[in-house]
Amino acid sequence: MFSRALRCPRRASKPSRFSVSVCSNHTRSFTENSQSSGRTTSFGFKTVPEDEKESLVKGVFDSVASKYDLMNDATSLGVHRLWKDTFVDSLKPGRKGPLRCIDVAGGTGDIALRILDYAREKYADRETSVEVVDINAQMLSEGVRRFKKTMYHYTPQISFHEGNAQELSPSQFKDDTYDLYTIAFGIRNCTSIPAVLKEAYRVLKPGATFACLEFSKVNNPLLSLVYDQYSFSVIPLLGTILAGDRDSYQYLVESIRKFPSQPEFAQMIRDAGFTTGGDHDGGAWADLWGGIASIHTGVKV
Ligand SMILES: C[S@@+](CC[C@H](N)C(=O)[O-])C[C@H]1O[C@@H](n2cnc3c(N)ncnc32)[C@H](O)[C@@H]1O
Repeated sequence: MFSRALRCPRRASKPSRFSVSVCSNHTRSFTENSQSSGRTTSFGFKTVPEDEKESLVKGVFDSVASKYDLMNDATSLGVHRLWKDTFVDSLKPGRKGPLRCIDVAGGTGDIALRILDYAREKYADRETSVEVVDINAQMLSEGVRRFKKTMYHYTPQISFHEGNAQELSPSQFKDDTYDLYTIAFGIRNCTSIPAVLKEAYRVLKPGATFACLEFSKVNNPLLSLVYDQYSFSVIPLLGTILAGDRDSYQYLVESIRKFPSQPEFAQMIRDAGFTTGGDHDGGAWADLWGGIASIHTGVKV
């Protein structure tokens, strides 16, 4: 199932006084006749008008969609699979009975597939369901194509929906509905993290869990150095060689560096109303590979 019926209206691009050339695949030119709000945000290391980020991010994922899964394996040397396995294992879907899950910025359905497999393999649960939501129709199409090869295809366990994490359609994604909200490597691409968290809080049932897997801050200086070298030289190079698109991969690396630190993000989760563990690894978050990625969780009170 792939729902477009309630796709969120895209904000019309407004001209602004800024002039940025983001990349060959998704360049935006802004004229001097500014009608922009004047607010800016980061798009990787660039500063862009806030109301343009969404379409720039969309450009990135339009560009990478068909090669996304291959590139994920290549750039992370397959490690993203281990992190996603750890993420889902930490949530134990199905352990306390079937869950209604929403996987936001779910892309090609990597997390959804793991949730369904985990519930079925560990707990013989064939009732847990996942609604995958993503702003990018091309990423979702890849997900639909992929699920056609699985036992979940054409079952009520999986559905794909075009939507914006920051403003989920309230008639489609109702208040107090889901047992589990997941977002993996998606929130850093959103213009407003607080808006995403607010929506997550709205759609979750009281007592339900918000869980985010995201690149994070490396604590060890030596690891940080090696990781920086790898990300800024190898990943854009792989983007060029395997996908013919250096700029999108450069953006992805830069966006990782702009994401808040573990304690800062934990505070944002609490500010949205969730309770979290204490401000340390093993509390509000769990670091993976020295903080290259981390899992943040919060519970709706
Ligand atoms: C790096 S991919 C992650 C996909 C998937 N969660 C995974 O782990 O493989 C980031 C995804 O976030 C989506 N995205 C970016 N901004 C979004 C927004 N505002 N609302 C919903 N999805 C968004 C992109 O389209 C893309 O599919």
